[in-house]
Amino acid sequence: MTMDYEDLDRRARDILRGNDRGGYTLPTDGLYPYQWNWDSAFAAWGFAEFDLPRAWTELETLFSGQWPNGMVPHILFHRPNAGYFPGPDVWGAEGMGPILSSGISQPPVAATFLRAIFEKDRTLGEPHARALFPKLLAWHRWFRDWRTEAGAVVVTHPWEAGRDNAPDWDGAMAAIDPVGVGEYRRRDTSHVDPAMRPTKYDYDRYIWLVQLGRRLHWDEAAMRAENPFRVADPAMTFILMRANRDLAALGRALGEDVGEIETWIGELEAGAAELWNEEIGAYDSFDTRALKFSGCVTCASFLSWYGGLDDERMLSQIERVWSAKRYAVPSLDPAHPQFNSKRYWRGPVWAVLNTLIGLGLESCGRADHAARLRETTRALIGEHGFAEYFDPIDGSPAGGGTFTWTAAVWLAWASPSAGGE
Ligand code: GLC
Repeated sequence: MTMDYEDLDRRARDILRGNDRGGYTLPTDGLYPYQWNWDSAFAAWGFAEFDLPRAWTELETLFSGQWPNGMVPHILFHRPNAGYFPGPDVWGAEGMGPILSSGISQPPVAATFLRAIFEKDRTLGEPHARALFPKLLAWHRWFRDWRTEAGAVVVTHPWEAGRDNAPDWDGAMAAIDPVGVGEYRRRDTSHVDPAMRPTKYDYDRYIWLVQLGRRLHWDEAAMRAENPFRVADPAMTFILMRANRDLAALGRALGEDVGEIETWIGELEAGAAELWNEEIGAYDSFDTRALKFSGCVTCASFLSWYGGLDDERMLSQIERVWSAKRYAVPSLDPAHPQFNSKRYWRGPVWAVLNTLIGLGLESCGRADHAARLRETTRALIGEHGFAEYFDPIDGSPAGGGTFTWTAAVWLAWASPSAGGE
């Protein structure tokens, strides 16, 4: 099939513009009617392909929601929307930050995309980057202070990892008895097929964890003491490692002192080494309460290159996993008993994860592997559209449609017009 790449570029730009609510972009209308943290950083990167000032605005709006303790929330509830659950009334985080928000964060990809946007036009970018640099530093310091255990980054809720129902959390989720969670009405399953979404079992625990944070007034010290869910995540660890490398490079370009950031990178490298699970021969998530690995090879394991570690041992793993099904990279190893080609983070391919893995392979000089991943991603989007995620067996689109971050990574990475070809 010959592809009309220009048409795809145009459609991707239309999606970004269509999901733009003035200063911030929705992941997709209906299912996700607010500003999401890492979606927004991807959106900024996509906008930078055709509207640099708009790209900077996206990041500035995201950081306008930063809490005084440095945390940048995973959702900013700019305008009320009755079609979403759990909304601000459930989170109960009013007054914690300048904008109504959730009480947890999300994968810190912003520094990496900010640096890429800055490099496109340093003169235009400098005042923006100067103003954002201390905010990014404060956010990364918050991760260092409240979200690391023995150097690795931990998540306090599956939503904080951005991989909601990944099998990485199964052990820690099973340890939660969601008593008193009460009645609630999900909204996600009225927008998309319930078979593509997390189960009620998972959802009860998601809400129970939100209620716990609310009861503790989102006080980090209290949550560290009481939250049974504290799982070290290779994805978060590698993403923060990469973000710190990019923040340090940006800081150097701006003439800032980056000594503190360099110390963090060393700590994260030591933490990542602890996440190597010899039994499966891969980086793995680790439940810091139960002191147990999850035992799964997931898309998170393959972010090691993105973190800057050219680990030979992961090459045979990625080759095995991406050869198992037609489209790479399944979010869970197809050989795992929990693999499900439709259910969200338990099998489907996510173009955004492919992009991060691909960027990592590229920066480690693994050009052939990166090119292969980019081709698959291009074929998936070209043949099946800008879906939230895709079935690795037949490529069929799943979840929400006209998705911002899928359009963004098309423009900035997967499209032939994205440069490099
Ligand atoms: C889902 C994804 C998360 C994403 C959000 C908005 O919750 O798991 O990573 O940020 O949707 O797209």
